[in-house]
Amino acid sequence: MRAVLDRLQTAHKKGSIIRELLRQKGHSKKKIVIDFSSPNIAKPFHVGNLRSTIIGRYVDYLLRSAGHEVTSINYLGDWGSQIGLMVRGFREFVDDSVWNDADPVKRLKLLRDTYVRSATLAQTDERYARESREVFARMEAQKSDEHWPIWQQASEISRQHLNNFYAMLNVRFDRWDCESAHVTAAKEMVDQLIERRIAERREDGLCVVHSVVNSVDTNASSSSSDLYALLRKADNSTLYLTRELAAIFDRRRRYDADEYLYVVENGQRLHFEQLKLVLRRMGEGELAEKVGHVNFGHVMGMSTRAGRVELVDDLLDAGVRLANDVILHSHSVKVAKEEDVKSVAFQLALSAIIANDLKRRRASDYEFSFERAFNFKDDSGPMIQMKHARLCGIERRNREEFGDFETSWVDYPLEESDVGKELMKRLSLFEPALEESLSQLQPCTVVVYAFQLARLSASALKPLRVIGQPKEIAVPRLFILSLTRKVLAECLIALGLTPLEEM
Ligand code: ARG
Repeated sequence: MRAVLDRLQTAHKKGSIIRELLRQKGHSKKKIVIDFSSPNIAKPFHVGNLRSTIIGRYVDYLLRSAGHEVTSINYLGDWGSQIGLMVRGFREFVDDSVWNDADPVKRLKLLRDTYVRSATLAQTDERYARESREVFARMEAQKSDEHWPIWQQASEISRQHLNNFYAMLNVRFDRWDCESAHVTAAKEMVDQLIERRIAERREDGLCVVHSVVNSVDTNASSSSSDLYALLRKADNSTLYLTRELAAIFDRRRRYDADEYLYVVENGQRLHFEQLKLVLRRMGEGELAEKVGHVNFGHVMGMSTRAGRVELVDDLLDAGVRLANDVILHSHSVKVAKEEDVKSVAFQLALSAIIANDLKRRRASDYEFSFERAFNFKDDSGPMIQMKHARLCGIERRNREEFGDFETSWVDYPLEESDVGKELMKRLSLFEPALEESLSQLQPCTVVVYAFQLARLSASALKPLRVIGQPKEIAVPRLFILSLTRKVLAECLIALGLTPLEEM
């Protein structure tokens, strides 16, 4: 046991327990490109985008910690039929003078509302829907000077908003890419594929690629013989898949990676099967093998006391309000300094939302409940934060007396009580939890581990009392409580959270 504790402490001293433990495993270093978040500019940023953002960020963190050379990409959906709807919507619903006068926040709202209104109208009005498709087809054919400024402004406003949003969540990307950057290459590719007779232009004008009879993809549940991929519409415009193909070749040229990961919802499984299918038909089987769909499930409902929310901004607002409530009314949560209330409330809200999301296997669908996410007594993000802060308090109060406990612990016998042993046992399980999380790219392994450790630390506080104890008892206790605090802090950081030291 001493050896394990020593490894954890040494790793902490070197700057990161997670990094040191994972690197000691000697994973062969790979180049990995990871695509996550990747929202669409016209549509509101919704919970699915949030899931991709927080799962992707976690996976990115773990892969980098393990020593891989990672490039993260935010691939904006700034092209496609939704752009036609957005632009058509602007023509229909938005007065230029209103648009020009609005401030950035209002413009963003106007942009989102316009898209939603337009998409709704297109569902019932066939003529309107056709016109929206035509708008997009003209833009693709670069015959649409009149639509261009709308697209440019929408794109600009979305990017600005996203920048603020990512800053708030502390997310960063190595590169922002976008679908519109790959249109030209995508078109050329389709022409080539037709020429090479890999794609076929059907009578209805669609360009498709069929799989060869019963080939290859053993993971596909649909038999691959009936899998086919659409690459171009009858009006010659490209599709999401066509741009995806062009984009992966661009990624290969730039990074020549060993893996290309995509953190995208389950609903796009077929899309990634088709991507691999076309790659294989193109003779790019090796590249197809490097594609990894890091899939995740659907968030079904999100009811708050104020009603249902879909938008991430609203979700965060509701979370912050709840956290403020807790800070004001709960006995167990006290924020000492008035000026910290705002940042603590924000961290608590974020902790609730993120831990609640990452605590289950990523492919499962779930129903979001604020009650559960914010429950300080049960397994939740705020619960981890609270236990972490409490351990910080213990360290603070005892630093003066036992300040050198991080080195002097080796001179004393280890804590003998059952609780103490259990806590040490739990600490030794951090490494296997990390390993499993990394090999399966499953955040939940570490989240569940952190819940267990935090809960255990709470029940250990009384039996492992430090204050007033003789040195040979106090030091080993303080040492394992402090290690527990360090491990909890690293779990929080891995989830993208800031560990709270006081509350
Ligand atoms: N923009 C897409 C959506 O919101 C997700 C893109 C994921 N990344 C990718 N390379 N396909 O559904």
